[in-house]
Amino acid sequence: MKKSIIVLLAVCSALCMCACGSSSKKLVMATNAAFPPYESVEGDKIVGIDPEIAQLIADDLGMELVIEDMAFDSIIAAVQSGKADIAMAGMTVTEDRKENINFSDPYTTAAQVILVKNTSTVKTPDDLANLTVGVQIGTTGDIYAEDIEGATIERYSKYFEAINALAQGKIDAVIVDREPGKVFVSENPDLVMIDEEFTVEEYAIGVSKENTELLNNINASLKKLKESGKIDEIIGKYIKAE
Ligand code: ARG
Repeated sequence: MKKSIIVLLAVCSALCMCACGSSSKKLVMATNAAFPPYESVEGDKIVGIDPEIAQLIADDLGMELVIEDMAFDSIIAAVQSGKADIAMAGMTVTEDRKENINFSDPYTTAAQVILVKNTSTVKTPDDLANLTVGVQIGTTGDIYAEDIEGATIERYSKYFEAINALAQGKIDAVIVDREPGKVFVSENPDLVMIDEEFTVEEYAIGVSKENTELLNNINASLKKLKESGKIDEIIGKYIKAE
């Protein structure tokens, strides 16, 4: 009897050790999942390019990926405070943001574009002067909109709110990243994208300035994933070449 209890205890503790060993460290990713094809909610899952790349990085680092959906303008603070380990939200590398967080090597390039109604007279970025422009609050589109002469900026917490306002004629244009812009146009037949791009940008993963070890590990994983063609494969799954 005694012996079997001891055996049982030994088995239990061995099991526990195994379980503890395999319940790996969490990699908490802060995102704003209203930005297809980079991240969006599908049923009860967050899907897209960013979660797929993050999953491969987590696998490579032996970590468990946990995704936290939040307002875009809360993401950097979440990483700074340690609430999240990484920011991955189609986030553009900017000098201002670099003052608050570190960025990994870029994993893709992007651009800001202008969406208007198909009846609009706006044909180039210069035509936006004195018009009402919608953006997602805290994005690079928001920053560029501030440079448009005489423009009134309407800031929305999600892009689709800006898109609805545009479709309803409440605002004249939306500044948004190119690939999400394409998705929004495909869902709204009255909207078109202006050919001329506003800016060219790079997306990278944000990490707390205090966590340089994680940053180095992420860069090492990214390098492997780029070299093996995995990143291109994921991007190609969501973005079809024209
Ligand atoms: N690339 C832009 C930026 O970094 C917009 C990103 C918006 N991302 C999102 N998941 N809503 O400011």
